[in-house]
Formats: sequence, structure tokens, C-alpha cells
Amino acid sequence: MRKRRRESDQVQPPDKILGHDPFADMDMDWLEREEGELSMEALGHDPFEDMDLEWLAQEGAPVSPALVEEEVPTLPAEIEAAPVPGRPAGFVAKPIAPEVERPVPPPPPRPLEARRPAPVVPAPGRRPEATFHFPADFRWGVATSAHQVEGHNTHNDWWAWEQKEGHVRNGQTSGLACNWWESAEADLDRAAAMGLNALRLSVEWSRIEPRPGTFDVAALQRYGQILQGLRERNIEPMVTLHHFTNPLWLAEQGGWENPQTVALFVRFVRRTVEALGQYCDLWCTINEPNVYAYMGYLEGIFPPGRSDPKAALTVIRQLLAAHAAAYREIHAVQPHARVGLAHNMRIFDPLNPRSLLDRRAAEALDKTYNQAILIALAQGRWTSPLGFGLAWRLRRTLDWIGLNYYTRDMVTYDPKRRETLFQRQAETDDPKLLNGGYGEYYPRGIFRCLQRLARLGLPIYVTENGVPGDDEQRPRYILTHLHQMWRAIQFCYPVMGYYHWTLVDNFEWNDGWMLRFGLIALDPQTQARTPRPSAAMYGEIARASAITPQVIETYASQLRAELLPG
Ligand code: FCB
Repeated sequence: MRKRRRESDQVQPPDKILGHDPFADMDMDWLEREEGELSMEALGHDPFEDMDLEWLAQEGAPVSPALVEEEVPTLPAEIEAAPVPGRPAGFVAKPIAPEVERPVPPPPPRPLEARRPAPVVPAPGRRPEATFHFPADFRWGVATSAHQVEGHNTHNDWWAWEQKEGHVRNGQTSGLACNWWESAEADLDRAAAMGLNALRLSVEWSRIEPRPGTFDVAALQRYGQILQGLRERNIEPMVTLHHFTNPLWLAEQGGWENPQTVALFVRFVRRTVEALGQYCDLWCTINEPNVYAYMGYLEGIFPPGRSDPKAALTVIRQLLAAHAAAYREIHAVQPHARVGLAHNMRIFDPLNPRSLLDRRAAEALDKTYNQAILIALAQGRWTSPLGFGLAWRLRRTLDWIGLNYYTRDMVTYDPKRRETLFQRQAETDDPKLLNGGYGEYYPRGIFRCLQRLARLGLPIYVTENGVPGDDEQRPRYILTHLHQMWRAIQFCYPVMGYYHWTLVDNFEWNDGWMLRFGLIALDPQTQARTPRPSAAMYGEIARASAITPQVIETYASQLRAELLPG
């Protein structure tokens, strides 16, 4: 192999730390060649062949000259004495003169454009690091809903549902839940101590309007007190007006299948916003119309426990109509309000991407579950399966859009499943499955959803995201999802805030107390709270509005290679 050196290369002093110049034998000429010539074929050799690359892989302490010397094995005498090819016999290498310390002349004054801050060079032996910064006014919050935390919501359809056997895992009930109705403030203190600046909660329609047309002033006052408590702690409230539960009286008259329900909801919304508007201007009308309809009217595992696709579609259309009417009503009461809706999105990917049928099945689910609602709200038209034709009253009824994202489903075509559009979610024993069979851990999914939502041109809040279980998966889950959200922000997707689900373990609907989503563990019997490590981690992130290398190192060091250049 032919090597050429530049003259200047030959006089380069050895690297002080390594004890030699690792580029010494590298062919530099090829750098000057034309682009087309830059291939090993064109060069006729591998220019990196002789380069010392081992030092790049060194971890920890720098390689010192002493270490290099120590590691050079001493050769047996007969080999030492053997003539070196190319050197005249009797050649004796001159000892390398020790480096003489010369006074260093002061550097010449630098031109203005050169006076930039010195680049941050990691100390020898330390790898480069990165901090993922979020906007200074980013909302760092937690999310919850009334029935899951308040306790003793005896006037709603969920309370009645829980009392019947077989509806909730292990026959559990919400009971006292997290006792927020009595003492939410203790948990608000915890949120404030973590450094959170946002909290999403919901108001319980059945408390505010326990009988049709009768509004409970004391209940509204209690909500006012909680919201004021948030303000006093510098935590901005986001209030959801419908999060899965209905007053019993409403359920008994047909719930969301009854066309009159839209007007009844708007009346409740008006009274609530009139009473609470002094504390809150960030409203979420309805939580997850798709989940509500799916669980209650298709799977039948939420009240009213039906399995009727036609009813499910009617319910979604009614919920969207209620959203649009509530949007206008809220703005009439509070012109500066910011009103949106929380949309649950899942990623549906084909189990076998090469199979046309799997791809079609995944697309069909995506359209039905994720897209139809967004198209209706953004473009004011119904698409399959919600219907056909215009839905013009839905247009311009979003000041922001909320994303609830948890997991991905791998979808496969199944000819026997007519009722689910010939698809089924593939079952796998993949270790990436989250606790409780909750779905697949897939952080990139949040980025894909945000990318899609960004096309709406609206501010986006991640209104829910979380993982059940003790902290085996939570720190990693949070960090990787936040990292993907950070990526989305780098692309200027307008992500304004993140509400982790949830602060304290709460009543998880049909899973009762079996799925624990809290940053803080709760013993529902004693009401004792024990923060999980992820609570401290999330607090550190919120206070810095950044993911620092220290946070990654402390709480999920296995992510170092994935999140940080090494
Ligand atoms: C969401 C719900 C929320 C909670 C989380 C885990 O779909 O909105 O109430 O149950 O799932």
C-alpha cells in the first residue's frame, strides 16, 4: 500500500495524553480528492487501515503515556538484536530528546469574528453529553379525573356499575379513591413540591347537578377551592368537563344515545364555567370520545355495557356535537377561554408489513380510531365509519388539541373477525409489552402522533401519557417518551405541555386498583402515600425544564447509549 504524507504531518509532536499521534500513519491526501474519487475502489486502499482506532473505544480514565509504556511488551533479546529490514546494519536509533519546556509566546490578538466562546470540550476520559432543553414556559403537569380520585361519587353511573359483580377486576370499587373531595390539597402540595406548573383534573357532573336542573352550589364552591389552591401553588389548572362518568339520572334517560343529552351537557357546562371561570380558562370539553364509545358500546366493559356498533357510532357523533356546542358556550361565557378536547391515539402497525392484508387491517383501524374524529373536527365532515357528509358545526371548535398516548398495537388480518373490521391485535409474549398487558412500549409512537397532530396547525398538549406498575418501567418510559416529545419540539411542532398520567395511584376503571399509574404509590386502605423514584425524576425534569445527563444516569442509566452520544 502506498502512503503519502504531508511535510507538516511529519513534524507533528505526539499527542500529550496518548503518548503518540494516532493519525501519524493516516493517508491525508485523499481528503483533497474530488468527491467522485472518494471510494476505496478509486483510492486502491483503505485510508483508515493503519489508523489507531482503539483509543476511541477507551472508557473512563484517559490513556496516559505511562499506561501505554507499561503495556508495551519487552521483546526477547534475539528479536531485539535482529536487523530491521530497510535499516543499515549497525543502525542505532537516536534516543528521542526529552521535550524542552519553552516559554509560550502570547497569542497574537484575534480578529473579532474569531472571538467566539470556546467550544465545550469534554474533559479527557469523559464522553460528550447533551441536555435536552424544553421551552422555558413549557407546562409540566400531571393528569387525573374526578371519579378516579375524589371518592364516594355515589350519584354517577360508574359507582352503580362498580357495585355489580364481574364489572371490575377482583370485585374492587372506587370507594374513597384518593380522598380528593376531602383533602385534594395534600396532593396539590406534593405536586407543587415537585415543581409542577400544571395539573389536569375533571369536574364530576353528578356532583354539580345531582338532579336534572338542580345545581349544587356547595359542590361548585369546593371545586373553586381546589382550583384556587392550584393557583396559589402556581399550578395552572386544566379542567375536563366530561371524563367517562355521567349522572345516574342522565344514564337512566339513555345517556349519550339520547339526542337531548347534548343540550343538557351544554347547560351543565355553562353553570360550571360561570362558577369556575375566575380560576380557570383552559378547558377540555370531553375526554377520549373514541375510548368512551369503544369501552361502553362495543367491548361493553364500561357502563352501559353494550355491544352495539351502531350505538357506538351514534355516541361518538353526539359527543363531538356536545364538544362543539360546549366550545361555543364556553366562549360566550369566557371569551378568552382556550378550549380543546383530549383525543386518544394509538399506533396501529401491521404485524407483517409485507402482507397487504395486514397493512389494510392496520390502516382501517387507524382511520376508524385515530383519524375519523380529527377529520370531523378539523374539516367539518364525517368520514367512514362515523358517517358521510358535512359536519360543519364542528369546524373551528378547537383552540388546541390534546393527545392521550400510551402504546402501540400490532395488527393482523383475521377473516373471522367481521365485527372488528377483519382485524385483531396480535398477541405476543414480547418483553416490550407493558405491565398488565397494557400494550407495546413504543416511544416513537408519541412522535408519530405529534407529527400528525401538528398538521392541524393548533397548539398541542400531551394531556395523558403513562405506564402502570411499580417503577420497573416508569423512569425509562417517561424519559424515552419525553425525549421523543423533545424531538417533536425541535421540528417546531407546537407542543405546549405534558400531563403525566398520573400523580397518585388511582381507581383504574374496570381494572380497579390492579393497574397503578402513579408517580406516588397509594395504599387505598390506609391512604398512605409513598413516592416512587420516578416522582423525584419527573420533579427534576420539571424544575429544570430539561432532561439532563445526570437525570438519565441516576434514574435510567441503561438509556445512556440510546439518548446520549457516547
Ligand atoms: C385513559 C383514561 C384515563 C386513565 C388512563 C390510564 O384512557 O382517559 O382515565 O384510565 O387511560
